[in-house]
Amino acid sequence: MSVFSTQRLENKVVLITGASGGIGAEAAILFAKAGSNLILLARRADKLNAVAEAASAAHKAAGVQAGGKIAPIVLDVSDAKQVEGLKAKIPAELQNVDILVNNAGFVLGVDKIGDIKEDEMAAMFETNVYGLIRITQLFIKDFKARASGHVINIGSVAGREAYAGGGIYCATKAAVRSFSQSLLREVVDTPIRVTEIQPGLVETGFSVVRFHGDQSAADKVYQGLEPLVGKDVAEEIVWVAARPPHINIAELFVMPVNQASPTLVHRPGK
Ligand SMILES: NC(=O)c1ccc[n+]([C@@H]2O[C@H](COP(=O)([O-])OP(=O)(O)OC[C@H]3O[C@@H](n4cnc5c(N)ncnc54)[C@H](OP(=O)(O)O)[C@@H]3O)[C@@H](O)[C@H]2O)c1
Repeated sequence: MSVFSTQRLENKVVLITGASGGIGAEAAILFAKAGSNLILLARRADKLNAVAEAASAAHKAAGVQAGGKIAPIVLDVSDAKQVEGLKAKIPAELQNVDILVNNAGFVLGVDKIGDIKEDEMAAMFETNVYGLIRITQLFIKDFKARASGHVINIGSVAGREAYAGGGIYCATKAAVRSFSQSLLREVVDTPIRVTEIQPGLVETGFSVVRFHGDQSAADKVYQGLEPLVGKDVAEEIVWVAARPPHINIAELFVMPVNQASPTLVHRPGK
């Protein structure tokens, strides 16, 4: 028997926002391998469907009998109306969500305060903060009614410590941290679990989005050190979800070995 069992995840319904790439996509594949069922949300239909297919193949290859029901649903968490209509789009057999992974999020630009663009400020808050709150509000009453459930929010090292050029992104992730702490306190008298995972540098589509599609600018972020990859954080998500029900990992702060803070990064290969 392996030391780290994922048996508790079998037949669970896991909803992941931002599942079309990066950390969310890797989490989808790992939960599928563990025998969970999945509701996968993101805006890009082609990427989302490809992840749903990869998760389905991973489930089959794992040979696990449990789970394997996968529902990709195109949804923009920044659109309140779309979130309001989400439950009507979830197949009947997946209505009882057990684990909610609030992962959708992004950063745009490195503008200093004074130069921040109104639309970029709004977009980051709408997805990273309001989107996460909307999705949580949609399911938390069900969790309370069923006296079970796990909310896993993807925060950031940037929510613990701000950096220059991250005025809005850091503020959104500090909001995720604060919101997660409020929720944790509100459900302390229930079996509901609340986790915030705070990753450092993870090489995903994140920096490509930040630099508006400029791949070489994105590559420089990770130059000279070995960053985390999506799967590293996905493994942490699955690990916290698979803990016995009396254990809540409230916070998990995970960085590459050569990172100590948002800006204190050692680059041995540079
Ligand atoms: N990479 C890092 O260094 C790092 C570090 C700390 C924390 N994080 C956090 O980790 C999370 C995942 O990021 P990642 O690194 O995996 O980046 P990524 O590869 O760019 O993935 C982000 C995911 O979020 C989805 N998304 C963005 N806006 C959305 C919206 N409004 N509605 C629904 N889905 C949306 C994207 O899909 P669509 O474009 O298809 O919608 C994509 O699937 C984010 O919350 C990010 O802030 C990342």
